[in-house]
Amino acid sequence: MKEIVVSGIRPTGFLHLGNYFGAMRNYVRMQEAYDCYFFVADWHSLTTHPDTKELRDSVQRVLAENIAAGLDPEKACLYVQSTVPEIAELYMLLNMMAYKGELEKTVTFKEKVRQHPENVNAGLLTYPVLMAADILIHRAKYVPVGKDQEQHLEMTRNFAQRFNHRYGDLFPEPAAFNYGNELVKVPSLDGTGKMSKSENQMATLYLADSDDLIRKKVMKAKTDSGPTGPNSEMPDYIQNIFQLMSLVSEESTTQKFRDDFNNANIRYGDMKKQLAEDMVRFIAPIREQSERIYADKSYLNNVIAQGAEKARSSARQTIEAVREMLGLAYIR
Ligand code: TRP
Repeated sequence: MKEIVVSGIRPTGFLHLGNYFGAMRNYVRMQEAYDCYFFVADWHSLTTHPDTKELRDSVQRVLAENIAAGLDPEKACLYVQSTVPEIAELYMLLNMMAYKGELEKTVTFKEKVRQHPENVNAGLLTYPVLMAADILIHRAKYVPVGKDQEQHLEMTRNFAQRFNHRYGDLFPEPAAFNYGNELVKVPSLDGTGKMSKSENQMATLYLADSDDLIRKKVMKAKTDSGPTGPNSEMPDYIQNIFQLMSLVSEESTTQKFRDDFNNANIRYGDMKKQLAEDMVRFIAPIREQSERIYADKSYLNNVIAQGAEKARSSARQTIEAVREMLGLAYIR
């Protein structure tokens, strides 16, 4: 039996190159070796986005983008959180063993309270409990998430432990997992930090960007008038351009510009033109495939229905065991 992996994707915003190299590539690799459950966390998005006008579209788009990036619904179970009501039942039961104090101490909660003091709802407070239910419903062993989710994962382990201690052994304690891709940095184009959806839109490349927009963004990346002598020290914003190039260009291309830099005859305009073309070559097929999938509603509906069926059959086994262990199995 393959080990079980669960991960959730929030349907807020378009996916960018940071998501691609950080998370999606891990998922694509994991679907070959593990029993994977990847889902779109539409309930979670309600904790911060009560307006649901665009939710359906966002869910379909995020599914399309992930499939275009290589997730295969025949290999991994791809589903939408809200199609698996067993998760809600487990969430409710786990809430009985989650303490107000520990929930209030969660870093992401405190952050959201600061950003939106007018919408501190109970769902926001219990966000980590819902995430624990997502993971424990399939009794997952691994969760491919980044550092920012480590505290949530630790809370999941605590809830699992508490349950096991009170009602008997049922849940493995899930661990974070990735293939070391966390080290793959995708720097933003303005020389500050990483690509991210909340920061400067012009400094982040999205999988949905048109060819011209990609070119425009890359050409605006920060450079200077070039090194003043051979083997100069490389400023970090130039290192960033090399880093981006190493992700999408031929090794020999990157090496040529590295040599040019060391010989102090690099032309940043040429380098950015090359990077722009290689970026277009990389992103365009994913974008086009994603657009095709997004437009094919009957295919998407099939993926969602098939995912729900598989996810629910796994979830049902867990929830039946939980009811049994709590003495709640009245009807057999
Ligand atoms: N909290 C995660 C995020 O913000 C999304 C998420 C929800 C998740 N449920 C999950 C991730 C379960 C992994 C497992 O990105």
